[in-house]
Amino acid sequence: MQRRDFFKACGIAAAGMAMDPLSLFNARAAEVGGQDLAELPESLNDLQLPIRGLSPKMDRPITIIIIGAGSRGNTYARYAEKFPDYVKVVGVSDINDYRLHKLSDLHEVPAERRYGDFSEILSVPKFADAAVICTPDDVHYKPTIMALKLGYHVLVEKPIAPTEKECRDILKLSLSTGKVVGTCHVLRYAPYFIALKAMMDSGAIGDIVSIQHQEPIEHRHMAHSYVRGNWRSSKETTPIILAKSCHDLDILRWLFDKPCKTIVADGDLFLFKEENAPAGAPLKCTDGCPHEATCPYSAIKVYVQQKRHTYVFDIPDRRDEAALYDQLVKGPYGRCVYHCDNDQPDHYVANMVFEGGRTASFSMDAFTPFGGRRTRVMGTTGFIDGDGTSFTLYDFRTGTKSVWDRKVSDIPEYKGSGHGGGDLALFRDFVEAVAAEDPSHLSSTIDVSMESHIMGFLAEKSRKNGRKMKVK
Ligand SMILES: NC(=O)c1ccc[n+]([C@@H]2O[C@H](COP(=O)([O-])OP(=O)(O)OC[C@H]3O[C@@H](n4cnc5c(N)ncnc54)[C@H](O)[C@@H]3O)[C@@H](O)[C@H]2O)c1
Repeated sequence: MQRRDFFKACGIAAAGMAMDPLSLFNARAAEVGGQDLAELPESLNDLQLPIRGLSPKMDRPITIIIIGAGSRGNTYARYAEKFPDYVKVVGVSDINDYRLHKLSDLHEVPAERRYGDFSEILSVPKFADAAVICTPDDVHYKPTIMALKLGYHVLVEKPIAPTEKECRDILKLSLSTGKVVGTCHVLRYAPYFIALKAMMDSGAIGDIVSIQHQEPIEHRHMAHSYVRGNWRSSKETTPIILAKSCHDLDILRWLFDKPCKTIVADGDLFLFKEENAPAGAPLKCTDGCPHEATCPYSAIKVYVQQKRHTYVFDIPDRRDEAALYDQLVKGPYGRCVYHCDNDQPDHYVANMVFEGGRTASFSMDAFTPFGGRRTRVMGTTGFIDGDGTSFTLYDFRTGTKSVWDRKVSDIPEYKGSGHGGGDLALFRDFVEAVAAEDPSHLSSTIDVSMESHIMGFLAEKSRKNGRKMKVK
């Protein structure tokens, strides 16, 4: 595709405004001497890329039930709070009473539409357009199957399910029901990744040859989620390459727009294990640990003093230090990181070959001061260096640099949204897909998400058996 045609094809208006897709780009090009589009402007922010706002008004809001009223359930319910003309929460299920009623109260869900276990809400006849499944990794399969059988459209959190067979069962059933089934690969919807992919697709750096992609977890986040927290056990949930990094395998597959042919992986748990506990460290940070003041993973520091990750505590005031301390004493988050029942690797690498001999190297690293993503894309005529919020494009032909660093907080859906705007943009597209009964509004449908899940299952096999795996 010619670059000019590409930008025409991307002619979806920014922030919902209808504009000629080339006008901004051409205006900028004219300013710098009327060059052809081959000359990129210094700032890529004004290019018309498929970063957009709300869809046109709908006849009625779609209705959803939320299964799992934890962190992710609340994330998507926020869309209904912000845009009540588009979506309404009419039922909630959670085995945790506090969370069930907190979310239900916020959305004025009547008492008879509040349920405990998912099997309760899914044993009454369908009473909404869609089910949003935000239960833990090992509690996706059954509710997804039940919801599809009842005739709901479904949005299921990633990873779809812990085994390839279960993922395939869901895919098969979704195809036979014809319902919209989306997976929450939210990075595909983040403006940063949309802009990055658009520049790659435009031919601005020639043919894509290789990608270096890093997922820096951030050391405290690692300790919170994958040592003390819900995803600490690969057996009870899913291996970290799926639990955390299925996003990254998915984004690589999406950026290349080519199938992955082989994958080989390595990595292990280096630090967070019994043998590395400093002398005299008790089981909990609250038990008078002699190393507490100097330990970067001290639960007292992370939760009470820094107030990070406190959303996991079911307390009315998450700034109340005495209540936070009490949660550490009573619950799993006060545990010493060297005395937990965890097995997830804290460093993980995977090399992939995509169609045409293109290569990608992926690295998931716990020991970083920042989270997010870092991506470098090598093309035959240029290079892109991205840090998860902005990127610089180097054009070898002209020797020029162009930067994309657009702030998207002026677009209502993106404001306050996690994953660089991706969380709420995904939900906007899901709402549109359900309203139109047309999965093509989503870029992370179940069928395309299967491919990156299979890459994840094979990466984990490779990590364990030391072999390069063919992706079929
Ligand atoms: N897309 C993303 O970027 C992203 C980010 C974080 C987590 N996730 C995934 O989202 C899912 C939920 O994660 P979370 O952080 O919201 O976890 P969470 O623990 O905050 O929420 C899960 C909720 O499910 C409830 N639950 C458990 N079993 C249930 C059952 N049988 N019936 C009804 N409710 C039940 C729990 O009580 C809890 O409130 C996980 O699969 C996770 O891997 C995705």
